[in-house]
Amino acid sequence: MTKVKFFNCKIDISKKVFEPRVETEFWVRKAIHEIENCKSKIANLKALDIFSGSGCIGISILKNIKGSKVNFADISKDSVDQIKINLRLNRIGKERYKIYQTNLFQRLKNKKYDFIFANPPYVAENRISEVQEEVLKKDPKIALFGGEDGMDYIKKFFGQVKINLNQKGKVFLEFDPLQKEKIKEILEKEKFKFNFKKDQFGKYRWLEAKI
Ligand SMILES: C[S@@+](CC[C@H](N)C(=O)[O-])C[C@H]1O[C@@H](n2cnc3c(N)ncnc32)[C@H](O)[C@@H]1O
Repeated sequence: MTKVKFFNCKIDISKKVFEPRVETEFWVRKAIHEIENCKSKIANLKALDIFSGSGCIGISILKNIKGSKVNFADISKDSVDQIKINLRLNRIGKERYKIYQTNLFQRLKNKKYDFIFANPPYVAENRISEVQEEVLKKDPKIALFGGEDGMDYIKKFFGQVKINLNQKGKVFLEFDPLQKEKIKEILEKEKFKFNFKKDQFGKYRWLEAKI
């Protein structure tokens, strides 16, 4: 078993899924604290962890927000198997989650969420030469690349996410700092209210958006 720590969870990555990054842990911690401190805290909160990989984001929600329920969505069978292992490893009750093997939101028709967490594949293919060899060997390509400029999944995501978001729901998304302006254009066009946020290294790395 190859295990890493993420927030206060144990995450096994032996199925060769994407290895959780410290930048992701940073914003997930912030987002969860924000939800916990929210005045109108939602009882029985329902969240979606899309592009879930190892399941590190959704499992952090389940472990840290009492009574929360999480759906996991990833296109890869390895990821589905890995999430099951990690849910057991962190002793999460079966009644609190569902796992979907799906291309984006395809198998999530009619499902609504209070919070949608997304860390999509966003590396630009035209920057492949800058990606470390070790990363290319370790992480599956399907988890890394998002087309020529890395924006393919982010565009699709914002084109589809509203249908699955509750009226007062919120989206948290990770991206490459170089994509900020392109994402801003999409969010304005889709009429979202949004906030860009920095990571622990001072780079714009994640955002919050709502309808
Ligand atoms: C960057 S990884 C994120 C993994 C994890 N959420 C994390 O933060 O460590 C992106 C994930 O998106 C999944 N993925 C790629 N294309 C997808 C698609 N069309 N629909 C759903 N998931 C997809 C990959 O299998 C991979 O697990």
